[in-house]
This record gives sequence, structure tokens and C-alpha cells, in this order.
Amino acid sequence: MAISISLATPRTITRTAELLRAGRLVAFPTETVYGLGADATNEHAVAEIFAAKGRPHFNPLIVHVPGLSEAEALALFDDRARKLVAQFWPGPLTLVLPRRSDSGLSLLAGAGLDTVAIRAPAHEVAQALLRRAGRPIAAPSANRSGRVSPTEAIHVVEELGDRVGAILDGGRTLVGLESTVLDLSGETPVLLRPGGVTSEQLTEFLGPIAAPATGRPKSPGMLASHYAPSLPLRLDAISAQPGEALLAFGPKAPSGFAEVLWLSPTGDLAEAAANLFAMLRRLDRPAFNGIAVMPIPEQGLGRAINDRLRRAAAAR
Ligand code: TXA
Ligand code: MG
Repeated sequence: MAISISLATPRTITRTAELLRAGRLVAFPTETVYGLGADATNEHAVAEIFAAKGRPHFNPLIVHVPGLSEAEALALFDDRARKLVAQFWPGPLTLVLPRRSDSGLSLLAGAGLDTVAIRAPAHEVAQALLRRAGRPIAAPSANRSGRVSPTEAIHVVEELGDRVGAILDGGRTLVGLESTVLDLSGETPVLLRPGGVTSEQLTEFLGPIAAPATGRPKSPGMLASHYAPSLPLRLDAISAQPGEALLAFGPKAPSGFAEVLWLSPTGDLAEAAANLFAMLRRLDRPAFNGIAVMPIPEQGLGRAINDRLRRAAAAR
């Protein structure tokens, strides 16, 4: 299969939607990261996602739809869920809800759970593609299992090469971190994954939110070391170690590093989130002994950034 990367235009979007309807895998931009999409009602197409990513386990996948009406055909929405949708969709918020028995979704997409994770992405290319495909699209991040999520089309080429039928290029993704995953299948909302919508925003809206129970993760994608560069990662760095590269945050950086990339020189968390994965990728080279990261404040988007960094630093 030849790699086909094309600038997203009405024509290429229509052609890509046809590939999806024919059961092929395609990569497309969302506001968070690039997704590896397949028709979520086609068991074989969904199985191809796991094969292409080299996922060792059948982690449940997020199902993408244009908006609430399409989502209501797949899952049971209560008032709480509708309120959140009115505020945050389209956008980087994934809701885990009871799956409708007549959803038509591939069981593999939900990994056998009786819930489904759904979101409506806020990216005009993703929106156009979903509308043209006319069916729900299962899409994990378009990287090989255990690696950093792609935030540019070229990253998808590096990750999945010829495993995809098409790659739609919609430029760099704006948010740069995956969506927030909120479990609404029980009485108390549970934050399964911090992401593009902050827990402060959610709490303001919902009141108290529970952290996931420790022990066996309900969201299998939350296993430590889910996101990882090849080089060792050292967090909260305040001085250099020999041969290390640095991801800096804020106006001043310690000296002595072999290379420095700035997540955000002004200390802006949204800018840092948007740069995180691309910069980790750029520094992940054998020329360095490791990647050090300056402290990032644990607030707002900083929580999601630190979550991804801790996973990337976890022992493998
Ligand atoms: O921003 C994003 O969400 C990106 C873009 C492409 O939309 N997608 C993404 O998908 O990050 P993925 O497959 O890499 O992450 C899906 C997350 C995992 O943590 C998974 O365990 C969780 O959602 N998940 C999916 N279905 C679930 C369910 N029924 N119950 C609990 N967790 C679920
Ligand atoms: Mg992922």
C-alpha cells in the first residue's frame, strides 16, 4: 500500500469518507491529536486498527460523531450528559455512557464493555469527514501502541507508514493533548483521563468529580507508560545532567543542556500543551542521553500535561 498524504480539501475529504465506508483505515486531524479512523460499525475495520497500532490488548476506542443527535443513536444520554454536551461539544471532551443495545457498534470497538466512549471533535476537517462518512468512526490516536500521539500529518507517516489508506493533512493540531475522558455511566462522574477540557472547567459545571479508583484501571488506556519516547524522561528538572536535552517552560531555563526546546517561553499552558508531543518527538534522538523537563504547574491544562509526562517517564 503506498502512503497517500493529502491536503484536506472538499475533494480529498469526500474520497477519504468513501475509504472509511469501504472499511479502510484513514488518518485525520482533530483539534486534539491525529486519529486513526475506521467505521465503528464494521468489526473487521475496527480489528484492523488494533493490528495497525500493534496494540497488545483490545483497549476500548473512542467513537467520533458530528454531534449530539448522532451520539444519541449510540448511547443513553441523561440531563447531566446533555448539559455537558451543550457546553463543551464539539470539543475535547469524551463521555463514557451506557451503550444502546441497538447502536450497531462493533463490539470490538467497545472491548466488550456495555458502555461507549463518544466525542464530537471541534475540527472542521474532522466534522466534514464524519458528516460525509455518515457513520460513527472509531479513532484512537494515530500512533503505534505505546508511543507519543501525532500532532502533525508527518508524524502519522512516521508512525504508521503504509498501514493507512489515506492521511488527511489539516496542519498542526491546536490542543495537542488528547481529549478529557469523563465516565458518566455511574452516579458520580469519574475523570478517567485529564485532557483538553480541564477538571476545573468540569467541576465548575458538575460539582465534585471522582478520581478513578486505584488498582485495576477502568480505562485500560490509562495504564502507566502509555505514552513514551524512546529516551528516558526526567521530570521537574532544575539543573542539567550530561548529554541531556531540555524541554523548557517559562522565561528562564537552567544552562548546560545539549539542546533546549521551549514548550512556552511565556509560561502559557495551552501553548505548552500544543507543543508537547511534537517537541518530545524532536528531542527523542540517540544524540542525547535523556530528555529533562522543567516543572509544569499542576493546574488547568498543566494537569493533563503532567499526566502525559508522568506516563512517558514511567519505567517500561
Ligand atoms: O483526543 C482524543 O481522544 C483522540 C482523538 C483521535 O480523538 N483519541 C484518543 O483515543 O485518544 P485513544 O483510543 O488513544 O484513547 C481512548 C481512551 C482510552 O484511555 C480508553 O481506555 C478510554 O478512552 N475508553 C474508551 N472507551 C471506554 C469505555 N467504554 N470505558 C472507559 N474508558 C474507555
Ligand atoms: Mg493514544
